Amino acid sequence: MSAAHDTPDVAIVGLGRVGLPLALSFADRGLTVLGIDRDGERLDAVAAGRMPFQETDADELIAQVHKRGRLSVSERVADAAQADAIVLTLGTPSFSHIEIDMRDIRSALDDLLPHLRPGHTIVLRSTIAPGTTDFVAGYLERQRGLRAGVEVHVAHVPERIATGKFLAEIDTLPCIVGAVESSDGGSASGEQVARLFEAFDAPIVQTTPVQAELAKIWANIVRYTQFALPNLLMMDCEQYGANVFEVIDLINRDYPRGGIAQPGFTAGTCLRKDFTFSEERSNAPGMLLAVSRVNESVPHFLVQGMKRRSPEQTLNGRKVAVLGLAFKGDTDDERDSLAHKLVRLLERELADVAVHDPLVASPTQTLEETLHEANVVVVAANHAAFEPRATRAAVGALAAPDALVVDPWNHLGSAQVFAFADELIPLGVEVRRS
Ligand SMILES: NC(=O)c1ccc[n+]([C@@H]2O[C@H](COP(=O)([O-])OP(=O)(O)OC[C@H]3O[C@@H](n4cnc5c(N)ncnc54)[C@H](O)[C@@H]3O)[C@@H](O)[C@H]2O)c1
Repeated sequence: MSAAHDTPDVAIVGLGRVGLPLALSFADRGLTVLGIDRDGERLDAVAAGRMPFQETDADELIAQVHKRGRLSVSERVADAAQADAIVLTLGTPSFSHIEIDMRDIRSALDDLLPHLRPGHTIVLRSTIAPGTTDFVAGYLERQRGLRAGVEVHVAHVPERIATGKFLAEIDTLPCIVGAVESSDGGSASGEQVARLFEAFDAPIVQTTPVQAELAKIWANIVRYTQFALPNLLMMDCEQYGANVFEVIDLINRDYPRGGIAQPGFTAGTCLRKDFTFSEERSNAPGMLLAVSRVNESVPHFLVQGMKRRSPEQTLNGRKVAVLGLAFKGDTDDERDSLAHKLVRLLERELADVAVHDPLVASPTQTLEETLHEANVVVVAANHAAFEPRATRAAVGALAAPDALVVDPWNHLGSAQVFAFADELIPLGVEVRRS
């Protein structure tokens, strides 16, 4: 896999959680692919046919692609110019200034500039702020005199898959193509870019670059906001002594205009920053920041709830077991996880924090070590591995007899955000105490 092909069909710059599955998917459809990353360890893993992170069914796929020799790798962004089509799948974090951080994209473009030629296609697959595709087109013309829609093709084709579902969704989610076209109707860049993505079975929808950018970030804004509402309701219910799960049931049950989601930790690398790409030029400044504040407050809200229910209202010296470090269930992705924020807040309360997560790369303790004599148990990620009956039984057997169980996801099924371990018993679980 490491030997470079003479002329790859497509180059993918950034072999992260988006770029690597995309590179494998193109290779699986018969294209020769050059994958580029500056992370040498990642390249070594890919060159050896090994996934550097978890993605459903990707272990088998990378082994197959490796066997067929359709994916080569390089550390040099300039090598991408060997291919006619260059797809940028680099990270686009946000600055704390509420502004897109385009440094990786700018740096890759600068590496590519001397090597670009007429006929090249440049696809921005990363999530970007509105106006970025037009900026890139303008940058190429200004720096190299290559006009988008005439000499080169420039498009935003946003990645819309969810972590863990890449290989299923690449063939089903409509593929949005927002190409920069020349004002004289020139070279039909949209059609050119669409031909690349026709490798997949998903329908292709052509639009303008800015509409593609808005559609991508607003899909995530909708989710981020939808989850903030039950999280805010959870906090309001605590204030009024109400049960959020019962209120949600009252809202949704047989009501045609219901549909509120369940509370939980709402974060991850996309949701936590994509809204800032809208907020940087918002017509309602602060609205989405308030949404973010609600979701970001959930760990603090839980810590306050734990303190209120603890002897002398303190967590100082109390053992808190945190189950799950990933940003959501059934992923090993810890980036921008609120579980990490929870751990930091608990440590600042001088709690004795133990963590177990069977999926993540960070070292954690075993379930038994984590639960042993814990005063508080928090379900921070709703992994299927925390099977409800077995986990409740383990809490009953290992944690302190009066342990507080904190479960904003209702993953364990007690239908209470804060419940004492003995309140889990009536739910049909045999609790054995050692
Ligand atoms: N992760 C998701 O589920 C997801 C879903 C949809 C969209 N997106 C968007 O896709 C983009 C990529 O996200 P990701 O999660 O794959 O990021 P990532 O951080 O996992 O991957 C980026 C990769 O690019 C490499 N890289 C950075 N700068 C480089 C450079 N100058 N030269 C070569 N390699 C370089 C990094 O080493 C890394 O491997 C982001 O814009 C993100 O918002 C992500």
